[in-house]
Amino acid sequence: MNEREAVINELLKHEIIAEPEVVSYIIERGGIKYVREIVEKYGHLGYITYEDILPRAPVVSETTASGGSALQVTAVQEIRGGEGEKSSFSKPVAGEYDWDFQVILDASVNMKASGDADDFRKLFEDRYMRLRNIITRRVSMRGARSIANLKDGEVATVGIVYETRPTSTGKLMFELEDPTGTVRCLYSGSEIVLNDEVIGVRGRYSRSKGLIFVKEIVKPDVPYSRKNRRIEENISVAIISDVHIGSNTFLKERWEKFLRWLKSGKDGSETVKYLLIAGDLVDGIGVYPNQEEELEIHDIFQQYEALARYLEDLPDYIMTVMIPGNHDIVRNAEPQPALPGEIRKLFNGKVEFLSNPAVFSIHGYKFTLYHGGSLNSLVELIPGVDYDMTDKMMEYMLKVRHLAPVYGDKVPIVPLPRDFLVIEDVPDVLVTGHVHTFAYGIYKGVHLVNASTWQEQTKYQKMMNFNPDPGKVAILNLHEDRMYIREF
Ligand SMILES: [Fe+2]
Repeated sequence: MNEREAVINELLKHEIIAEPEVVSYIIERGGIKYVREIVEKYGHLGYITYEDILPRAPVVSETTASGGSALQVTAVQEIRGGEGEKSSFSKPVAGEYDWDFQVILDASVNMKASGDADDFRKLFEDRYMRLRNIITRRVSMRGARSIANLKDGEVATVGIVYETRPTSTGKLMFELEDPTGTVRCLYSGSEIVLNDEVIGVRGRYSRSKGLIFVKEIVKPDVPYSRKNRRIEENISVAIISDVHIGSNTFLKERWEKFLRWLKSGKDGSETVKYLLIAGDLVDGIGVYPNQEEELEIHDIFQQYEALARYLEDLPDYIMTVMIPGNHDIVRNAEPQPALPGEIRKLFNGKVEFLSNPAVFSIHGYKFTLYHGGSLNSLVELIPGVDYDMTDKMMEYMLKVRHLAPVYGDKVPIVPLPRDFLVIEDVPDVLVTGHVHTFAYGIYKGVHLVNASTWQEQTKYQKMMNFNPDPGKVAILNLHEDRMYIREF
């Protein structure tokens, strides 16, 4: 078999058919190894054209104070509609289209949670049922049985993981629980397994030992589903987070520079019709010890008023969508409800207030917006990741189809009868913030954005030797299905 045939076979294995030019391109880039990279990065494209596989790294640019021409364009692999290229439109195109915004899931519900054991049981049952439905659709989980019905021999079952611990021989031991019972599992593969995840296992069950020797772990994961998602209208979504208005480390000048650009309706902002803010809208009060020493605005209402003033003269064709974060006025435990009426009424114009997390669609693109509280846990629990690899942690969320897989580590969670943190709908775009870094990645066709902040390094961060990466805006053009990144 020559290399071309080998590459084609590998593509077919992943149900991909490609244009001949694409096959040549893949061979140039390392052949089969590169196919695997493509599958990992872009997912099943079905039929790949040359355009699909061209390097799609984001365009990084910097704007001047007036939002005028670019000072510098870095890491550009392909500039299309980016800085330096004059728009063919004489007025903002975003104003020419109608809104197409639909809320799919909002957790601002009036559900009762007393915090007793029964509430926690209901929450975990709900998590289990939702994820079990996803896992058992997988071919390798055919014939899965509940734990109480396992029989000696080859078995498949689904459960919630707890009490993971490494054995002295380097294997992993854990308990798996479903509503019918529990079973011990011994696993020697390389898959990461964290407590409270819902997973499927395949392996050999021994009733006398009360143990499954696990051969395969099946995570719910997201399917390879990326397929020409581009929309007709030339519309973009600007994605930011962690504004922290009220803090004396709020980057006022850079924030105002960004707003001037957004309002100008030119130099790339003419397509921006939606602005998403992933929480920590204001710095809040009493969030951490001695916070008052680092506040410029000491009243939380005045902090929101300041934000409302900033946003009130945005062009009337821009819709702002905001969710709360751990610095906002609502309860800290997740899911957090949308901002209350007394705050909402401070805002004029087109603003949608949703819960953290929230799922919605913009012109058919499905967004999951989550502040990102669990990133603080995942950074410690997933081997080999760091705060500058938030996209890897977001990949993990998609693999386990849960925004905060490990219960009660760093993220307080309200034991509602429904688990709103399950990623039931596969998003086109997953957005987080919270950790004040910036990351962009693609996992199986899903855009991953860990949105940047507008707060410079705080004393606390300095002490922790943590360097934020502020002032970056991710701009997703839905017409091109392409991410641009601008720094202000
Ligand atoms: Fe924050």
